[in-house]
Amino acid sequence: MTDQPQPKKLFIKTYGCQMNVYDSQRMAEAMATEGYVLTEDQAEADMVLLNTCHIREKAAEKLYSDLGRLKPLKAAHPDLKIGVAGCVAQAEGEVIRDRAPIVDLVVGPQAYHNLPAMVRGEAAAVNTDFPAESKFDHLPRPLATRRAPAAFLTVQEGCDKFCAFCVVPYTRGAEVSRPAARILAEARDLVARGVREITLLGQNVNAWHGEGADGRDWGLGRLIRALGEIDGLDRIRYTTSHPNDMADDLIEAHGAEPKLMPYLHLPVQSGSDRVLKAMNRKHTAAQYLHLIDRIRAARPDIMLTSDFIAAFPGETDEDHRDTLRLIEQVGFGTAFSFKYSPRPGTPAAGRALVPDDVADARLHEIQALLARQQRAAQDGMVGRRLGVLFEKPGRLQGQMVGKSDYLHAVFVPAPQAGVGELVEVEIDASAPNSLVGRLVA
Ligand code: 5AD
Ligand code: SF4
Repeated sequence: MTDQPQPKKLFIKTYGCQMNVYDSQRMAEAMATEGYVLTEDQAEADMVLLNTCHIREKAAEKLYSDLGRLKPLKAAHPDLKIGVAGCVAQAEGEVIRDRAPIVDLVVGPQAYHNLPAMVRGEAAAVNTDFPAESKFDHLPRPLATRRAPAAFLTVQEGCDKFCAFCVVPYTRGAEVSRPAARILAEARDLVARGVREITLLGQNVNAWHGEGADGRDWGLGRLIRALGEIDGLDRIRYTTSHPNDMADDLIEAHGAEPKLMPYLHLPVQSGSDRVLKAMNRKHTAAQYLHLIDRIRAARPDIMLTSDFIAAFPGETDEDHRDTLRLIEQVGFGTAFSFKYSPRPGTPAAGRALVPDDVADARLHEIQALLARQQRAAQDGMVGRRLGVLFEKPGRLQGQMVGKSDYLHAVFVPAPQAGVGELVEVEIDASAPNSLVGRLVA
């Protein structure tokens, strides 16, 4: 009898957006072909991968302090491999290994299909290329392992919009859409592995377009309808979108495709036309509001969410009030808001900042208003019947927890039910961060 070789253990820490969550999954799958299994325990890892985010302040500082904390682990296990992936890897490149010599590998978001070869020492230890061929053509087909019921699927990467505050066009590069046939094949594969809900991802996901099965150029709306035909796939979502790419067929899909969930994240950033112009958003507040009207006409029960930046350079009190007014006018289900932080290399980086105390006060005001709207939206679910996709057992005996159509966590007594079941639930109560409901017979 021969001893089986022990699988090596891979620990991945993911920062930032869902795109990174998806990339981490694909990196784990690529490393599985090298005999690595995932571990949740950093201390027992043979390889630690930090999949980083560069979108807002202090990303690099956060990375270097995390690397500092890894020093004792590396000292105790000199064979430990440490890799830095994601957008900070892309932005900093070689500099990371100069500043933190414990790092073995640096790999950008478009180059991580090289990770296995890099780990074997057969490829350069730093790779931040934007290769002409897609990494997706080189990643191994994932092993047919069971997946959690809700999955991400990247359909588009990069951004050509160049908002004045944003690093994405520099770290993720130009807009690229994956071919429809590949996306549909990956979706079918996910469904075969237990997935019931797919969130299509892209930095500018609604700019997706590609040649469809009929030889025509499809937009995201048409792709969503093709995905809707996959048996066993019950729910479709997509994120993140730019208002200017909400094409007619996508708006229509919200009314016509029952599997497309009534939830849309549509960042607006500001309610002031002056600021929107300075941000290079290329639309006005009125255009955004008109778009919201059209989307609500197609799908009246849709919940809208957004992103806001407080205190963009040059923002006045009046601009700030315009933002509050827009929030009042739309009524968001939830939204993310951030204080502006200058990102090196972006057009707005050199502009004079709004004083910090003013910026803090504005952010606070935006957040308070959004929190009230979030509360109202969640409380408004009480008495409604919603679909809930069970993701795991709840805290109590016989209880399951899943996500509603609107992405609220819902706790349901359901002793007979299993993970991956999509059930109809009547909502009875709204708790601080979740809903409570019961199965509809
Ligand atoms: N400062 C503050 N917020 C930013 N975002 C992107 N760049 C910056 C920045 N420099 C926010 C935007 C975007 C979200 C993902 O992050 O609101 O929609
Ligand atoms: Fe950044 Fe603007 Fe592109 Fe969104 S649309 S990724 S905010 S540049």
